[in-house]
Amino acid sequence: MLKVEKLDVYYGNIHALQKINLEVNEGETVSLVGANGAGKTTTLQSISGLVPKEGRVNFLGEDISKFKAHEITKKGIAQVPEGRRVFTGLSVYDNLILGSYLIKGSSDHILKRIYEMFPILEERKNQLAGTLSGGEQQMLAMGRALMSRPKLLLLDEPSMGLSPIFVDKIFQVIKILKEEKTTILLVEQNANLALEVSDRAYVLETGKIVKEGLAKDLANDPSIKAAYLGE
Ligand SMILES: Nc1ncnc2c1ncn2[C@@H]1O[C@H](COP(=O)(O)OP(=O)(O)O)[C@@H](O)[C@H]1O
Ligand SMILES: [Mg+2]
Repeated sequence: MLKVEKLDVYYGNIHALQKINLEVNEGETVSLVGANGAGKTTTLQSISGLVPKEGRVNFLGEDISKFKAHEITKKGIAQVPEGRRVFTGLSVYDNLILGSYLIKGSSDHILKRIYEMFPILEERKNQLAGTLSGGEQQMLAMGRALMSRPKLLLLDEPSMGLSPIFVDKIFQVIKILKEEKTTILLVEQNANLALEVSDRAYVLETGKIVKEGLAKDLANDPSIKAAYLGE
C-alpha cells in the first residue's frame, strides 16, 4: 500500500533522514521505533507532505512524492500528530466534524462508531477541546483522523505523556482498529507497546533504519531488548 524509497530529509545542515526505505502492506500494523531525535516524526511528516524531502513515496500504486499535504490527505492518508494538536477553542463535536470534511454525504455512522470506541468523546461532545485532559485529547485527535475514513492512519507517539490508564485505552483502540484491518503506521518511543500491537517493525537510529523484521522477532532480539525494551 505504502512504499517509501530512499527518503532523504535535511533541516539545514542536519541530515535527519538518510535513504530510508519502508513498506506498509494493506491491513498491516507497522511500527517505527527509535529514541528521541531518531527521525520518527520526520518520517511521518514527509509521508504526509509536511516537510520537503527527496526520494520516492508511493501510495496505492501512485507516486505521491510531489503531492502537497492536502492532496495526500485526499488520497486517504491521515496523520495524528505528536502532541495531538486538537482545536482547543472548538467543541469536541466540531473537532470531529472537521475531520470529516472530505467525506461526501453523511458522516453520522462514522461518528457513531467513534463514539462507541471513545464513549468519553460523546459524553463531552459539547465541551471545548481545550478543557479535555491529555489522554482525552489524544482520543479526540485519533477520532478526528478516523472521521476521514483514512486508508492509512499515521500515529505519532500516541502514548506520549499519558497516564497508564489512558495508554491502555489508546492501545486497546489501536488493537480494535487493527482487527478491523485498518492499515496503521505507528511511531512510538515505547517500543514494548508498539511491538505488542504490530505485525512488523522498523528500528530507526539517527536517521537510518538499522533493523527491520517481524514485531515478535524484534521483541525477542537481544540488542533491541537492551536498547529499547528496558531489559
Ligand atoms: N523543524 C526542525 N528544524 C530543525 N531540525 C529539526 C526539525 N525537526 C526535527 N529536527 C531534527 O531532526 C532530527 C529528527 O527529529 P524528529 O523527526 O523529530 O525525531 P523523533 O520524532 O524520532 O524524536 C532531530 O535531530 C531533530 O532535532
Ligand atoms: Mg517525534
